[in-house]
Amino acid sequence: MLAGKTVALVLILVRGRPWEFQYDTGRCIYDEVRHCLMGYEWMRAHGMDPFQSPQYLHVFKWRSQFPPPVMQYCLLTMGNEVHAFPYRHRRVEAHQKFGGQLSEQFVRYDIADETQHVRFNNRWLPELLKLVGEKRPLKQYTADVIKVWKEEYRTGKLPINVE
Ligand SMILES: [Fe+2]
Repeated sequence: MLAGKTVALVLILVRGRPWEFQYDTGRCIYDEVRHCLMGYEWMRAHGMDPFQSPQYLHVFKWRSQFPPPVMQYCLLTMGNEVHAFPYRHRRVEAHQKFGGQLSEQFVRYDIADETQHVRFNNRWLPELLKLVGEKRPLKQYTADVIKVWKEEYRTGKLPINVE
């Protein structure tokens, strides 16, 4: 649910957001919730209770501390969503190899949805940057955010600034 929560937070916090952005973001939240429900279904099918599974809330906490919310959106989309495709494709291959047809389909839904989410980012990130008055060009802004993502998320340090 971390991705869905971040997108919901961005949707609420961005002032002056166009209706089309709200529409696309609503689709994105729906997709993320569906991915979570697929996980629940998988766990229950394997005798596990999803509500007994630890939640990685510290990731959401970490991502939520960056103002403005457009940075949270960029961290999620250009960081996590873009970079996870090789992993997802490896999961498809593994499920094919070991006969996990349902699991393979779950990952394929995820790949299709995340491809759309990256398209949404490509459409909306430039607009959001204009809305918040960001002066850096899109390419520079994205590179700066990805630098933070690599230094903090990829390393697993996830510093939480409490003040
Ligand atoms: Fe996504």
